[in-house]
Amino acid sequence: MLHFINQLPKAELHLHIEGTFEPELMFEIAKRNGIKIKYNSVEEIRNAYQFDCLQDFLDIYYAGAGVLIHEQDFYDLTYSYLEICAEQNVRHTEIMFDPQTHTDRGVSFETVINGISNACKDAEGKLGVTSLLIMSYLRHLSEEEAFKTLEQSLPYKHLIKAVGLDSSEMGNPPSKFKNVFEASVKEGYIPVAHAGEEGPAEYIWEALDILNIKRIDHGNNCFEDDLIDEIVKRDIALTVCPLSNTALRVVDDLKNHPIKKMMSKGLKVTVNSDDPAYFGGQVNQNYIELQDALELTKADLYEFAKNSFQYSLLDKEQKARRIQELDVFYSQNS
Ligand code: ADE
Ligand code: ZN
Repeated sequence: MLHFINQLPKAELHLHIEGTFEPELMFEIAKRNGIKIKYNSVEEIRNAYQFDCLQDFLDIYYAGAGVLIHEQDFYDLTYSYLEICAEQNVRHTEIMFDPQTHTDRGVSFETVINGISNACKDAEGKLGVTSLLIMSYLRHLSEEEAFKTLEQSLPYKHLIKAVGLDSSEMGNPPSKFKNVFEASVKEGYIPVAHAGEEGPAEYIWEALDILNIKRIDHGNNCFEDDLIDEIVKRDIALTVCPLSNTALRVVDDLKNHPIKKMMSKGLKVTVNSDDPAYFGGQVNQNYIELQDALELTKADLYEFAKNSFQYSLLDKEQKARRIQELDVFYSQNS
């Protein structure tokens, strides 16, 4: 099964680039930028990664991102993640980045986008991993601030595929961002959003009906009959993040993870790492631990991988080509 998971061609659809920041690289970049961080060793950093809820994690995650200053820093961060993708047979990835985490510290939008997108371009050529970018608005900030970010992004529109919504969910419903999502869609960005991670089913409704999202990030709290019917009817996928859910105590134990229940209701699910440096595993580790906890079959894992291409933001032909490649693998390894 391990071999099957490692070799399985797949896409990752829920990944925050700032959440891939491994402590070793964090130390290296902090040192070259002359920034003192709170921890004295890699072990100390890893020991600090114990969370009771989403906010606990976010406080540490934003502090870590504070050492990223130069274009090269964003390049190195992104390229390191893409190398890991290549090792895991992740053929395509849709990377979220949080511009406001950086622009609020005086780093320019241009620095962030150039570093990330140049790494993506190089990785496509050298590693064969393709990527698309999702610019995420921080929901704990105001809609007005999100509008500023939208404005800053416009000269780089050709590099960005979609807009997302992340950060502290409770008390920051999707409806708060109605106007900026409308404006983003007018600019050609595809809307997605985190919804129902800690927040209620009502937030998922708002994300669907008010933001008109094309994919739900997390969606753990979707279990209301009408809501499930609506998600199925719209043919929208959930980007599920099992190890994130246990690390942030959205789920108490992987054995109780709702992903099988989601599948049994006809929902389309994918498996992703969210913030792998913080939650104890890359995407393959999420497949491995989930398979073990829920005794999943190869057919279940194939379905996750197929959904990851089918519900990606790639065009029709690209999706078909990748699914065909997956099907060849599956027919030889099932
Ligand atoms: N930003 C990074 N990871 C996140 C998550 N799991 N939920 C909300 N915002 C995030
Ligand atoms: Zn996330």
